[in-house]
Amino acid sequence: MRWEGRCPTCQSWNSLSEVRAEGSAGGSTRAASLELHDPSPLLGSSVSADREADRIASGIGVVDRVLGGGFVPGSVILLGGAPGIGKSTLLLQLAACVDERGGSVLYASGEESHGQVALRASRLGGGAGRVAFIATDRMDAALAAAAARTPDLLCLDSVQTLAADGAGSAGGVAQVRASAAAAHEFAKRTGTVVVLVGHVTKGGGLAGPRSLEHLVDVVLHFEGQRSGEYRMLRGSKNRFGATDELAAFRMRETGLEPVADPEGLFLGDRPAESSGSAVAAALHGTRPLLTEIQALTTPARYGAPQRVTTGFPPRRLAILLAVLQRHAGVPLGDTDVFLSVVGGARLTDPGADLAVCAALASSHLDRPLGRRSAFIGEVGLDGGLRRVARIEERVQAAVRAGFDDVVVPAAHAASLEADCSVAEGVGAVVDGLRA
Ligand code: TYD
Ligand code: MG
Repeated sequence: MRWEGRCPTCQSWNSLSEVRAEGSAGGSTRAASLELHDPSPLLGSSVSADREADRIASGIGVVDRVLGGGFVPGSVILLGGAPGIGKSTLLLQLAACVDERGGSVLYASGEESHGQVALRASRLGGGAGRVAFIATDRMDAALAAAAARTPDLLCLDSVQTLAADGAGSAGGVAQVRASAAAAHEFAKRTGTVVVLVGHVTKGGGLAGPRSLEHLVDVVLHFEGQRSGEYRMLRGSKNRFGATDELAAFRMRETGLEPVADPEGLFLGDRPAESSGSAVAAALHGTRPLLTEIQALTTPARYGAPQRVTTGFPPRRLAILLAVLQRHAGVPLGDTDVFLSVVGGARLTDPGADLAVCAALASSHLDRPLGRRSAFIGEVGLDGGLRRVARIEERVQAAVRAGFDDVVVPAAHAASLEADCSVAEGVGAVVDGLRA
């Protein structure tokens, strides 16, 4: 290796960064360990069609639903979240539940000492104190301990602090990838469910390479406002079930408590009518939750107007702004636009479009929407409202939460039981605000 200050290809200075090559021995050991296997029919006598039936219920119902019905044996789950959000707490609670239900568990931590985790266990109470524990910063030590017990569930906290052999600096790209690969190999070979804790970076991505997400079967994100007491667990990848399913918890003195009925979780305190706020009956996974959207529009001071969103895709906002301008006479081209989804929720459901448009128009016109109005509908480029999935469940959730004016796309009118307001397009909804 030698120092080079100038890129030999593009001739620019200081644009090179050092990346260590992966162990060159890797290729040859792999070749040496190559075994010959005879191909066999997909549905042979020794292979079951799927392992759904063998799923291990964690015992925390809301988590099992996010997983798609429990842990699948031999699967690798990445549990990501910001430091301090409660990943270790959740994982220890899960471990305790599996242990209590007669499963065997091993919890390895490279992050905290035996004493620190013991303190957490004593706060949690219940079976947490009986969970088998090992403190180590070496992945091979953790996997050796696991191999001796062959647990049903192996918790590795965290992928950044459990270093694999000769894989570079802790937390580095090569180390994280090597650790995850070792855990993956162990899970597939033994049928153990492996949960890897992973820290997320400030930008919200999982630290380490994105290829980490390809190495695992399930990616769960644990999030929420750190100051607030609510936490949300959300699947962003799941080889064995739906994603976007959501579990809500309250952080208590004695650990995380599942919120059985999170319907009001994403509604702010709405003391008085205020312009710029609209409520969507939006799907979070398969479940409709009433979700408040707040918009603020102000004339841009200089240059390109700002578009800042929290919990909503910026590109989708750009489209809706164009639709509002063109089909509803709401000119927001020279306006700073701030859009925020209440309660740390993230909207991916197109059925929330109409509520977003209503919030934007309400802020722009400075006309509050009715406090008991909820909006459902996907907005098309032509300004029309499209049908959405699970309309009946959405309307019922809104009605249960006390919204008596539910605005739905006209296309759904005939099929709905409840009394709803219907709208053909976003223009009609905005005209209603102007009236
Ligand atoms: P932790 O699980 O250590 O977070 P992470 O592993 O994601 O870094 O949890 C951190 C916070 O949770 C900490 O600030 C204390 C709080 N907490 C409670 O409020 N109640 C509890 O019972 C426990 C164990 C932790
Ligand atoms: Mg932790």
